[in-house]
Amino acid sequence: MEDHANEIEIVTTGDGSTTLYSGRFSQHYHNPNGAVAESRHVFFKTAGVPGSIKKSEEINIFETGFGTGLNLILAKDYLERSGSTCRVQFFSTEAFPVTPDVASELDFGSELEEHNPNALLGKIFASLKPGWNRFEITGLIKLHLWVGPFSEMTLPGDKFNFFFHDPFSPEVNRELWTPDVFQALIAMAADDAKLVTYCAASSARAAMAVAGWKTARATGALGKREMTVASLAESGLSKFKLLNNRRLIERYKRGDFD
Ligand SMILES: C[S@@+](CC[C@H](N)C(=O)[O-])C[C@H]1O[C@@H](n2cnc3c(N)ncnc32)[C@H](O)[C@@H]1O
Repeated sequence: MEDHANEIEIVTTGDGSTTLYSGRFSQHYHNPNGAVAESRHVFFKTAGVPGSIKKSEEINIFETGFGTGLNLILAKDYLERSGSTCRVQFFSTEAFPVTPDVASELDFGSELEEHNPNALLGKIFASLKPGWNRFEITGLIKLHLWVGPFSEMTLPGDKFNFFFHDPFSPEVNRELWTPDVFQALIAMAADDAKLVTYCAASSARAAMAVAGWKTARATGALGKREMTVASLAESGLSKFKLLNNRRLIERYKRGDFD
């Protein structure tokens, strides 16, 4: 098997937290202006996860691209700070897990230090095997991590309230931005599901629309003009500026994004 460990570089971002640079994909895992700040904005605040944690008994999150595990650590942080007894099932997928050594060198800032994320992530990454890996993170939060390509994932029977769509960009990670992938996510979606991604590319939005998601634009993180939010019904997007989904579908079918 090829050794890809040397293709990963630890980089400090603008808010002091670290991210990784992937030589395989020639891209950072997060916005170099702030890994933690970007993740909080895109995946948690824009999707409404903190509010949902406060008022729900259970929420199910599905992430595409576990990467550094930052979103799991943030989910744990929001849950513990809320004092809520909401149970969180955190599902994620990862084709190229980092080594435990890399995981234990990540720094998500002093705010998250009390979670001892390095020890937790070091333990998770040290025990991964291909297929589904399950971890009881706390009494309230469970991690279900698929190790392998998304395309080979055996579908969980669960229905998800939140989709954190976080592959690399469509230019370099094309296979995770297709209508087929977004359709697979719909098959796992609860009626109130929201999909959020940092990506604002029309090609990505069109692929979502072709699959059946309604898409809208939201303000991006750290000065980025836009990101994308999607839902199964337009009524789920009342806080956002709805995109012209019919037009996106037409453009996709015309081959504008081939
Ligand atoms: C932008 S990074 C994810 C960042 C991550 N959410 C975090 O907070 O660190 C994208 C991730 O998707 C993974 N990935 C790329 N293609 C994949 C595929 N086909 N199936 C599963 N994971 C994939 C990469 O290895 C990488 O870890």
